[in-house]
Amino acid sequence: MDELDIFTMTFVLFCSQKISGHIFNTLTIPTGHTNPMVFYYLCRRIRYMSKNKLSKFADMATYPHVFQTTDFETPDKPHEMKGRWKELFFHNDNPITLELGCGRGEYTVGLARMFPERNFIGIDIKGSRMWTGATEALNEGLKNVAFLRTRIEFITRFFDTDEVDEIWLTFCDPQMKKPTKRLSSTYFLERYRKFLRNNGLIHLKTDSNFLFTYTLYMMETNHLIPTFFTRDLYKDAPTMSLSDNQLKLLQIKTYYEEQWILRGIPIKYLSFALPHEGQLVEPDIEIELDTYRSYSRDKRSALTKAK
Ligand SMILES: C[S@@+](CC[C@H](N)C(=O)[O-])C[C@H]1O[C@@H](n2cnc3c(N)ncnc32)[C@H](O)[C@@H]1O
Repeated sequence: MDELDIFTMTFVLFCSQKISGHIFNTLTIPTGHTNPMVFYYLCRRIRYMSKNKLSKFADMATYPHVFQTTDFETPDKPHEMKGRWKELFFHNDNPITLELGCGRGEYTVGLARMFPERNFIGIDIKGSRMWTGATEALNEGLKNVAFLRTRIEFITRFFDTDEVDEIWLTFCDPQMKKPTKRLSSTYFLERYRKFLRNNGLIHLKTDSNFLFTYTLYMMETNHLIPTFFTRDLYKDAPTMSLSDNQLKLLQIKTYYEEQWILRGIPIKYLSFALPHEGQLVEPDIEIELDTYRSYSRDKRSALTKAK
């Protein structure tokens, strides 16, 4: 198979998976045939992009602080690090904080710089995004940072009872149509309980009014007490009496957060303690859907509210 064949196949795959009808239309000339110049340009671009990703994956495979698993066939099989992160990797007894859906890992690395007496693990399924934070941590010689590439659904494979102290959820998808996929749903809270210490903190930072409201109802329904709460963090912060540590936390902004701020969307932030005891129930309430479209979120449905 010559080079162009490979590009053609990649291109067809790319089109079938990613390209919207609108962009696809720009690729065709009036006769209905593909414009060869645009086609050639995209092929070169795709080759560049995949090379870039491949070199990031190759880097990640050599990083001593990156743990990856593609074994999704055995979701219940404990990973060798389960219950042993402090002993085998951090070599200390400091508390562990997780950032779930960490993307480029701004919180994981930013918090690790600020709090050397704590340990941090960023978790995401997208290795090429995590590469940014993982590379920064390596270059800076940070010893209190690790990254784990897996699906959050399988998180109990990696952490044992009371092994984790705090969890950050940073700008995760609100999953307006799929309650069980929301990272603050009972589905996930029940999983977090299996490894979060009793009354360990969960922090949620989000642009989404839907996810924020849903999480507030979740807390109210289950009598979970907020330790911090604001619907407009950067407007409210100067008027709040914040501790030094809280002020430090405000200095970290993630990649997605910067995008939302540029679009004028207020950043919402809350934290609450999750106890081990008590049955967790889903809030039975309809919530207004977010009216704007995000970068990666699905097209909006005709619905205006969802549970
Ligand atoms: C909107 S991005 C936010 C990234 C980063 N926290 C930020 O604020 O820039 C959501 C991230 O969650 C990750 N993600 C979503 N669902 C996931 C899952 N089930 N398991 C692992 N990662 C997931 C995505 O790969 C993506 O990097």
